[in-house]
Amino acid sequence: MTDVPKETLLFVDDEESILEVASEYFQAKGYHILTAENGRVAADLIEQHRIDCCFTDINMPEMDGLELAEHIRTVDNTIPVIIMTGYPSLDNTIRTLKNGVVDFLIKPVNLNQLEICVKRVLRERQLFIENIFLSKEVESKKRIEHLNRELTYKVEELNTLNRIMTDFTTIGTSVDLFKRVVDLSTELTHADEASFYVINEAIQQPVQVARSVARGNGNGQDRIPTVKSASGGNGSCGGGLDISQLILENCEEDKPLLIQENSRVPGLPEAIRSMMLVPLNIRKKVFGVLAVSVVDSDLRFTEKDLYYMSFMTNKAAYAIENIALYENIYDNLFATLYAFVGAIEARDPYTEQHSNRVTRIAMALCQAMGGSQEDQDILNVAAQLHDIGKIGIRDDILLKPGRLTEEEFRVIKEHPVIGANIVERLGLWDREKHIIRCHHERMDGKGYPDGLIGENIPMLGRILSVADVYDAIASDRAYRKKMGEEKILQIMYGGAGTQFDPGVIDAFRSLYAKGSLRQIIDASR
Ligand SMILES: [Fe+2]
Repeated sequence: MTDVPKETLLFVDDEESILEVASEYFQAKGYHILTAENGRVAADLIEQHRIDCCFTDINMPEMDGLELAEHIRTVDNTIPVIIMTGYPSLDNTIRTLKNGVVDFLIKPVNLNQLEICVKRVLRERQLFIENIFLSKEVESKKRIEHLNRELTYKVEELNTLNRIMTDFTTIGTSVDLFKRVVDLSTELTHADEASFYVINEAIQQPVQVARSVARGNGNGQDRIPTVKSASGGNGSCGGGLDISQLILENCEEDKPLLIQENSRVPGLPEAIRSMMLVPLNIRKKVFGVLAVSVVDSDLRFTEKDLYYMSFMTNKAAYAIENIALYENIYDNLFATLYAFVGAIEARDPYTEQHSNRVTRIAMALCQAMGGSQEDQDILNVAAQLHDIGKIGIRDDILLKPGRLTEEEFRVIKEHPVIGANIVERLGLWDREKHIIRCHHERMDGKGYPDGLIGENIPMLGRILSVADVYDAIASDRAYRKKMGEEKILQIMYGGAGTQFDPGVIDAFRSLYAKGSLRQIIDASR
């Protein structure tokens, strides 16, 4: 016997003598005992006390033993219920089990037998409760692990997003920004290749301005996607699979595209296993498209990759706008456009550095004529970009070694208009745009595209025209060698008043006499 009360046992029976005997016996064993003469009284006691085990008769007034068992199960299903009955029947036994009763004893019940039963069910109950705690613990451990994984994932995601944000805030020029976009794309998604294409309505062709190839892919150049120029020749980078159509379609759709299985997309080169195309919008218009591809591995891009890429192009768009609006507008946009000019000149080795030389010659003429700093700044941009419209001219016409047909010449003559349109779309450089459009006009009105006469052609346009023609005839071309000095001067001086502004030719004459113009031509060889 012990002073510490053990568990509380509840005996329910309408036979008072049974309650008395059981109470006396189990109290003597140290248990705390509650008794009830029917199910209803027992239910009230259960509400008021903590019960560890319940022994009940079946047949009782008000609420019988099976109803009580059912009630206990709904209140606390860990309390074991043992039925004591004098008349066990199959029906009763089945009902007992259905009601979650753990055991039943046949009356008259031997007290020893009852005690053994008490000890057994209480031990089982203890194990049952421990088991519940244990599984709850396992469950919460699992939940904690799951939360931990989610947290790690969120932290990674935040790190990635933070990385994208901070990477773009430190960039000074748009060219650097395009490069950062493609480098970050291959790094974050483990892609084989990422390229950024600028879309320009005026030339109807995506132009690749930046490209990043994952390490170890150096030998697979011909399997790397790129865009081909209008003529079918290579665009601004070598080799590759033509994805220009896909890019133009994506540009029209204007939403990120995730291609996980090659076979589902018509027009996608077979070698590309997975691809993402993400448009970059500036002021609600598609400015360019980021293309990220897998060609050499079993990697497949996921929605998460697409989310990162979209997030990145969004940030890049803001950065481009900021760079263009608030920092060195000229330098940065010019650098982007200059990449275009580089791409055009790379198509024709004879015109390489043409725009650079023309700029230097035009600047020298402008200075010699006393042009203001503003004039020089404008001319500097216009001269560098004067032939940018050639990006829209097919290679077979642009690079034709022989004489052009009338139709081919008509196509070539579109380049000043295309160039002016490209610059106009940037919403900047009104005067520069006008000068680019005028660089093939003549004083006698026989030039193109507008046939302007004399002073209707802006002065800077007249200067640019002289510089352009001089460089063209003083350097080697695809279809002829450079001209001799006598012939060059005959064309230049002879053109004064008809093709060229006589005032500009005067400046040309004095600079030529000093040898500074020839120096510019020779310096670029
Ligand atoms: Fe031109």
